[in-house]
Amino acid sequence: MSTIEMQPATVQSAGSDLLLDVKDLRVTFSTADGDVTAVNDLNFNLRAGETLGIVGESGSGKSQTAFALMGLLANNGRIGGSARFNGREILNLPEHELNKLRAEQIAMIFQDPMTSLNPYMRVGEQLMEVLQLHKGMSNSQAFEESVRMLDAVKMPEARKRMKMFPHEFSGGMRQRVMIAMALLCRPKLLIADEPTTALDVTVQAQIMTLLNELKHEFNTAIIMITHDLGVVAGICDKVLVMYAGRTMEYGQARDVFYRPAHPYAIGLLNAVPRLDAEGESLMTIPGNPPNLLRLPSGCPFQPRCPYAMEICSSPPPLEAFGEGRLRACFKPVEELV
Ligand SMILES: Nc1ncnc2c1ncn2[C@@H]1O[C@H](COP(=O)(O)OP(=O)(O)OP(=O)(O)O)[C@@H](O)[C@H]1O
Ligand SMILES: [Mg+2]
Repeated sequence: MSTIEMQPATVQSAGSDLLLDVKDLRVTFSTADGDVTAVNDLNFNLRAGETLGIVGESGSGKSQTAFALMGLLANNGRIGGSARFNGREILNLPEHELNKLRAEQIAMIFQDPMTSLNPYMRVGEQLMEVLQLHKGMSNSQAFEESVRMLDAVKMPEARKRMKMFPHEFSGGMRQRVMIAMALLCRPKLLIADEPTTALDVTVQAQIMTLLNELKHEFNTAIIMITHDLGVVAGICDKVLVMYAGRTMEYGQARDVFYRPAHPYAIGLLNAVPRLDAEGESLMTIPGNPPNLLRLPSGCPFQPRCPYAMEICSSPPPLEAFGEGRLRACFKPVEELV
């Protein structure tokens, strides 16, 4: 490591074998009430086949992080920092380059599959169109490959379902179609933005198991965006815990899950829904996510933090500790329970 690495907030970067290397990513929106920084100097990276979870409550900046990488920000948004994909800068690419990247290298699935599926087109046609457009396949090749991919996502009677329209599928099956569509061009990176929140708990678990199997089968790196740290523990290698656009904690998923080191991560963990505790009320973190236009000085979580101290009104630096872990909190780790 060079001397520049002395800075505390550096995410360990292992050079050229990184698939995605994000540095100081920042997303600012101009609004009538002033600038809103939705994503504030994020650093993370991913190797081929690795899974990163991005976790945080509503409004913490998870989707805007994904949108910035995919070139999908709203018109009033500006991006700062850098994101290298296979060594190449992908922030602020021209539209035609972005289209190519999105079609061939990075795919995204959204919370509601109906936002990406055309309701008036048969599912098979929608899948085949992708392969014909981007892979130059013939009709029959595209048909067979689409059926194969529907089989891969464990769609029962895949061949028959090619002729069906999106509304004829259940929510879980529609999400499987989306996953099949996202994987058709064998992307190196799949960004899944809360792909299961609209589904019931059992179906959620099935989709997560499926994604976990597919990541091994296709060696696809995944960025899994979720509210639920439990999901992260099941399928992610690393996790980034975000609050008010900032990194609160970053590290190996098992470390963060079993030994969270930030009061916010502890709060999220206590809010993890359990399959075995259906109907029981969950603990939620008291208070509401912050208004980005009126953040407190210092730590943004301070007003809701059970451990808040006087010093928390100055910003806690993001500091390295343990094995490749980072956290932004003044409270000593051993004093957190
Ligand atoms: N076009 C915009 N103009 C101004 N602010 C915006 C715009 N788009 C998003 N924001 C703000 O950016 C912040 C982060 O939003 P983001 O969608 O990334 O949250 P999220 O973590 O994905 O939340 P959720 O879990 O609800 O999807 C929010 O406070 C949101 O209001
Ligand atoms: Mg979101």
